[in-house]
Amino acid sequence: MRTRVAIIGSGPSGLLLGQILTNAGIDNIIIDRVGKEHILARVRAGVLEEGMVGMLDRAGVGARMHREGLPHDGFSLAFDGRDHRIDLFDLTGGKRVMVYGQTELTLDLIERRERDGGITIHDAANVTPAGFDGDSPYLTYDKDGVSHRIDCDFIAGCDGFHGASRKAVPEAAIKTFEKVYPFGWLGILADVPPVNHELIYANHPRGFALCSMRSNTRSRYYVQCSLDDTVDMWSDDRFWDELRRRLPAHHAEALVTGPSFEKSIAPLRSFVAEPMRFGRLFLVGDAAHIVPPTGAKGLNLAASDVFYLIEGLLEFYQEKSNAGLDAYSAKALKRVWNAVRFSWSMTTLLHRFPDNGDFGQKIQEAELDYLTHSRAAATAMAENYVGLPY
Ligand code: FAD
Ligand code: DHB
Repeated sequence: MRTRVAIIGSGPSGLLLGQILTNAGIDNIIIDRVGKEHILARVRAGVLEEGMVGMLDRAGVGARMHREGLPHDGFSLAFDGRDHRIDLFDLTGGKRVMVYGQTELTLDLIERRERDGGITIHDAANVTPAGFDGDSPYLTYDKDGVSHRIDCDFIAGCDGFHGASRKAVPEAAIKTFEKVYPFGWLGILADVPPVNHELIYANHPRGFALCSMRSNTRSRYYVQCSLDDTVDMWSDDRFWDELRRRLPAHHAEALVTGPSFEKSIAPLRSFVAEPMRFGRLFLVGDAAHIVPPTGAKGLNLAASDVFYLIEGLLEFYQEKSNAGLDAYSAKALKRVWNAVRFSWSMTTLLHRFPDNGDFGQKIQEAELDYLTHSRAAATAMAENYVGLPY
């Protein structure tokens, strides 16, 4: 088999890249180690920057998001028993975010690709990128006991943090940066109305909590938990009690509870691999970087990586120029590091760290107080939350 761009990974990065390439007449094949049902069972992210909304429109899959998604003009910081609203719209001169689940946009992209007859190979084992340091890259993989090979012009490694692409790069060619946080997030989904019409990020002595949503009837809630915790230690009752205790009283009283239908624990990590290009192999999205979820940047960074890579591929195929591809890694990494910094600072501001001590605690309180009294500080938070331009 031969294609122009072989895409490893059928998550948001791979699907978005594939669709925009298809729309531009550039043929591509997506290959994933798991099936469609598995991919659509992932819950993950929920807040989209305007840049991501624009990329979904560009892919031609924005209609349902505009119909069913919830535009948000602000969010709430809750601490010390009160709420402080960050007015995104006012502070950024008219920008907002869109609440629309990763699961939904992934479904929209998969359905569009199926309608267009795009090739996606699921349940492929031992996917291995090769030959990318020369002019003739290719992939090999096994399926149903048979080995296959796809020749291509370029390989896009969109296969997430645990994927095969980054691992195929010689260790000496790659530099990694990592910070592991000493806690996780326990998240649930429940068909109950959200406690508030906007998100609440809560800093509480018992730990961080986040009240988010997927629709006006479906809530997504998180509490900071220990890395030693397992899901079976958290009954629904224990979760709801803990969430209530971490919210200001007026929210706690308004909280509607019900049975959860999804419950999982995610560890928190910041990770960046540099560079993001190795000859004809490009790393995209979580394959190259991970941010802690505070600030909702992971999925949005995948979209900006795709934006820069598309720019390079279009220049290559339409103008026979390598300039865009040569610029990919530096452009993407510049935006990545801004998001890594912001996610780290939101995480640091809002969580309880076991080793923070009284000094660290006082610094956190002073920073929260500064945010509530300084328009400049609130503007910096809002500008980063809605997403830096690309
Ligand atoms: P992925 O979504 O990871 O997709 C990678 C794809 O590659 C998968 O389909 C996988 O099956 C496939 N693949 C992997 N290895 C191979 C292989 N060897 N061969 C072939 N295919 C392979 N972000 C937020 O903004 N907010 C959140 O609340 C949030 N919560 C998260 C919770 C969890 C548990 C995780 C893991 C991530 C979360 N994120 C969140 C981050 C966000 O979901 C990711 O940034 C986003 O999914 C990145 O998309 P991606 O396409 O780059 O990678
Ligand atoms: C969600 C996740 C986040 O990490 C965040 O900052 C906001 C919302 C969510 O899953 O809805």
